[in-house]
Parts: sequence; structure tokens; C-alpha cells
Amino acid sequence: MVAARITVNGKEAPIAPVKPHTTVLDFLRERGLTGTKEGCAEGECGACSVLVARPGVDKPTDWVAVNACLVPVAALDGQEVVTSEGLATAGEPGTPAALHPVQEEMAVRGGSQCGYCTPGFICSMAAEYYRPDRCAVPGPGPEPATADGGDPEHGPNGFDLHALSGNLCRCTGYRPIRDAAFAVGSPTEDDPLAQRRERPAPEPAATEYTQDDSVFLRPGTLREALRRLRERPDAVVVAGSTDWGVEVNIRSRRAGCVVAIDRLPELRELHVASDHVEIGAAKTLTEIERRLDGSVPLLAELFPQFASRLIRNSATLGGNLGTGSPIGDSAPVLLALEASLVLAGADAEREVPLRDYFTGYRQSVRRPGELIRAVRIPLPLSPVTAFHKIAKRRFDDISSVAVAFALDIEDGTVRTARIGLGGVSATPIRALATEAALEGKPWTAQSAEAAALVLQAEGTPMDDHRASARYRSAMLRQSLLKLHAQTTGQTAEYTTAHTTEQSTEAVTS
Ligand code: FES
Ligand code: FES
Repeated sequence: MVAARITVNGKEAPIAPVKPHTTVLDFLRERGLTGTKEGCAEGECGACSVLVARPGVDKPTDWVAVNACLVPVAALDGQEVVTSEGLATAGEPGTPAALHPVQEEMAVRGGSQCGYCTPGFICSMAAEYYRPDRCAVPGPGPEPATADGGDPEHGPNGFDLHALSGNLCRCTGYRPIRDAAFAVGSPTEDDPLAQRRERPAPEPAATEYTQDDSVFLRPGTLREALRRLRERPDAVVVAGSTDWGVEVNIRSRRAGCVVAIDRLPELRELHVASDHVEIGAAKTLTEIERRLDGSVPLLAELFPQFASRLIRNSATLGGNLGTGSPIGDSAPVLLALEASLVLAGADAEREVPLRDYFTGYRQSVRRPGELIRAVRIPLPLSPVTAFHKIAKRRFDDISSVAVAFALDIEDGTVRTARIGLGGVSATPIRALATEAALEGKPWTAQSAEAAALVLQAEGTPMDDHRASARYRSAMLRQSLLKLHAQTTGQTAEYTTAHTTEQSTEAVTS
């Protein structure tokens, strides 16, 4: 097998001799590329953002921003990375490098003070600058898309501010950063990174990278991956590494064997059939979002609220479900959509409804050596859907409570109701009692309030540092009342009364 190598800012280098758990961030910094910073080391600040060449949706290659603190450098064997240093064009010896257009806008609009967060912002911004379907208008000003502030999250240059939702700045303030984002134009024809998009992204390299007693493996096929897992039942399986990277950095966990499955072709398909949508377990959330383009509205509502763009560029549905976390945001949504999982084992595949998948805290029916190959969502979809995430921050936060609704309402009567809940039990659950309380009933304020009281009692919420059990229960109730208000335009008196009560609870919890 060829020795593991990585291309950074156009120059190829061997990955050895670092250890298999070494992150891209540490690898870069040890080689003097110290523009890439460590802030949190757990995917929450974006100071470590770098660009990676990935298979594109609209062009052969997309430049995708990822958190370098979470990805093992061995996972980028054969891949191309660009850092903030690589964005600037080196000048003649003795002359300063020319700033990249994104760097130029950040500089002239005062988007940087201490500068610690700036390289990360620059890389996230550059990924959006090169997004092929960004509608770029030459020479835009810094004002939001509409004068009345109708879409403050998109610039007149098509810049989607969600591209920066995973980047934190502690001293500049976000206004000048937004001004810079909304001022960037389009790449010129001779821009090397724009040109690079026209050629295919690097193929995933079959990797077996060993140092000391540990090994990082990237099998080439699903069959090979299943064989490796049979040989190494102790292996840690990673896709985007957004969960494992935190374990490595914050909890100092180490694995004797890590198996990467994020580029297995069998796990990266997405197709729409007449009676279902099948999404490969290793598709990133960004890829799914762009491929589905709003055709599954409940997923479209989920994605902007799932962590940050940086995380969504690496995270997968398979990973979010595979960890079995009770607060993973995809599970409530997929429960409401009545999704099932296709589990691939050494001898056969089987399909398991998601409602039967979780068996306990971080436990599931997935057998040792099995992998989630795909998620299947049955069609047709229920017409009334909503995802309510209750968290302390609007973006880039972990849910205290998550509620997903999928209702069929015909002639004012609820025909079917599917409700998925996260954060109120040891596992994500369906709110079966509430579904039964709604089905067959008129969709009125009275019946919604009666069902909301049932919803309030679902699960076994706990007190923890994110919220009290009482607050979580109150949010469940409020969530159904909010759905009713959203779908009917009615706000009954009870809504006002309980909002006041919850506000008090929120402050004290
Ligand atoms: Fe904070 Fe990587 S260092 S996201
Ligand atoms: Fe100081 Fe952003 S410029 S943290």
C-alpha cells in the first residue's frame, strides 16, 4: 500500500510519522501553518477551519470548510487541503503576498481585531465564495438582500450567512464580518481554486496507516469494511469524526483501530423511488441538504438547526444515529418521518424501523460488526411538518429538547400524527400517547391543548446543566401549542398564560 500523503496548499507531504489520532489541526501547526488555530478543540468555534477538496454537487469538486480539530490527518490520505496561508498568493521575494478577495474584504471592512478567529472565518467564507450555486453579483455593497431586512441571512451577492454559523468571534463583533461576507464578488476566471473545481476531487485512498500500536484504516469497499470489523471488533467506526474527534481531544480517548467509512461508495448513494427516499448513511448533511433541495421539508427545517455548517460538512446521518445519542437532532425528525435503517452485516442486510432501533442509553439493535448503510424515508410525506429545537443558542448548540411533527390533517381532522422527541428520555422516542390523543380529533385549539397536556407527560425528562425536567416538559407542551398556532394562525389565551410561566422557568432552570 502506498505511504499516506496529503497535499497542503499545493504541496504534497507524507503524513508519517505522526500518530493515527493526530488531527489535521495539529499536523498543520507542527509544520508551521499556524494560521489554523485551536480555540475549543471540539468543533464549536471554527478557529481551525480549513478547506478540503470534495466531490461536488454542481461541479466535479467543491471546496468544503471543515473543522481541522476533529478530523484525523490520516483520514485525508490522498486529499487536498488549503489553509488561510494558501489562500493568499505569494508574491516575489521581498514583496508582500496578495490577499485573497475574502481576506481583502475582511481587512478593509474591519472584520478582524485580535485576529485569533480570523483565519477560520476566512476559510469558511472562502468555501462560500467558491460555492458554485451562489448567485454572485459583481461589486455588491454590504447591505442585506432587501432594504426592509427581509432576508438578513443572505447578502445581495448570494452569500449565505449560515456558512459562518460555526465560527465564533469574541472581540470584533459580527457586523463588520457580515459586511465583508456580503461584499465579496465572484472568483475571476484565472482564480486557481475556482479552476480546480472543474476537475474531479481526489478519489478516496484505501489507507492502512500504522504507528506504534494503533492503526487507521480506510477500506475501499463495504465488503472490506465489514471484514475488517469482524477482524477487529474493538475498532472505532468513524465517518465525519465529529463525535470521535471530541472524544480524542477532550476526553483523551485513543483507539487501537479506527475504521473510516465516510467514503465507502455503497454508503454514499441518494435516490428517490416512487415509495421512498433512500439516503446513504455516509452522505454529509450538507450534501443531503443540497441534493434534496427542500423536497423533504422536515429535513430542510432540521438542517439549518443542526450544529453549524462546518459540522454539517462532515457529519452524517449514519454517525448521528450510530452513536445512539438521546439528543442527536436527526433521530426525532426521522422518527416523525417513520424512517427505517438498512443495516449491512457480513452475510446479509436487514431493515429496521427507527422506532425499534434504540434499546437504551446509547444502545441499539445494531449488532457488532454491522454498519448502517442507508436511511429510508417512506413516501408520500405528511403535509404538515415542523421541527422545534429548544436550545440556549439559535445555531451551533445542543438541544435541550427537540420535537418533530408530521401530521396528516384532512377536512380539519387529524388523520395521522407522528411525533419524534429528543432530550426527554434515555433514547429518542415516539410520542405514542400524544399521537393517539390527536388522531381522529378535530385540529382545534381545544383538542391541541388536550393533546399538549399528554405530550407534556411523555418521556422521562431529567434535570441537567442544559435544562430542568420541568422546563423540558413545559417545552413539550408548548411545542404542540406552537404548531397549532403556526398552522391555524390562532393563538388561544392559554398560549399567553403558559408562555409567561415558561419564561420564568427558563430563567431559573
Ligand atoms: Fe474550535 Fe476546532 S478549535 S472548532
Ligand atoms: Fe478577536 Fe475574532 S478578532 S476573536
